[in-house]
Amino acid sequence: MIGRSEEYEKMFRLEGQLWWYRSLHERVEMALQQRFGKRRDITILDAGCGTGGLLNFLRQRGYTGLRGLDGSTDAVAFCHERGFPVTFVNLNNLADFEPDTKYDVIVCNDVFCYFTDTDLLPLLSALSHRLKPDGLLVSNNNAFNLFMGEHDLAVGIIRRFVLADFEQIVPGRGLHVRSATYWSLALSPLILLIRQWQRLQLKLGWLKAEDAQSDVYLPPSWLNETLYQIVRVEQKLLRRTPFGSSLFMVIDSQGIL
Ligand SMILES: C[S@@+](CC[C@H](N)C(=O)[O-])C[C@H]1O[C@@H](n2cnc3c(N)ncnc32)[C@H](O)[C@@H]1O
Repeated sequence: MIGRSEEYEKMFRLEGQLWWYRSLHERVEMALQQRFGKRRDITILDAGCGTGGLLNFLRQRGYTGLRGLDGSTDAVAFCHERGFPVTFVNLNNLADFEPDTKYDVIVCNDVFCYFTDTDLLPLLSALSHRLKPDGLLVSNNNAFNLFMGEHDLAVGIIRRFVLADFEQIVPGRGLHVRSATYWSLALSPLILLIRQWQRLQLKLGWLKAEDAQSDVYLPPSWLNETLYQIVRVEQKLLRRTPFGSSLFMVIDSQGIL
């Protein structure tokens, strides 16, 4: 994804409106409230913050201790335009960035999909090391290989996850998966159908990998609002669902690193 300026420009323009980002940001806020209640002075690091959509959402909700890191100059520039203290950092070198600073919360949404196991394990250790003893790591990730499609190609995603992947690796990094859910169950048949159709088109050569487009575009407002409301209702009614194209996790620091 890094280097694809047009993807960052789209993200910057649309993340405040698009149903998927709105649903994800509200999910993050719910996780923060469950742990920290009404406190708005907690320190939050968005690691791989992209163009700052989540930081912007949290600032609007009154959170004050916001920081961000990203390994894309495009992303960092957009965050600066929004007035956020965001630093250009390759997360492979997180250990070198302000090594003594620890956070109440680190959010790392849709970033692990760019890391092989060789890099992911040290990254999880470095994130764990930056959490205060009762801190939280909140992380959304692309789930299930079945959902691989045009979007993955367009933004250079190299892998998708299932919960067992994290349950195996996080305990050794001083972390514990406290809660996790796949989402959105209700939309998954539709998303699956679209992604499988895209894969067929790619296989048959009807769609070229170099022409692949990401899912970051705004559908008609009635559809955008309908998709948002479906996810919202699902989120309110069902705390955990067993299937979906994303995996949302709230991970506790065990404070042992
Ligand atoms: C799919 S975007 C997600 C952005 C943001 N977290 C969000 O939820 O909108 C992935 C982000 O991870 C960043 N990223 C990928 N590899 C990185 C690395 N090695 N170091 C720092 N940032 C990285 C990209 O620049 C991009 O902004």
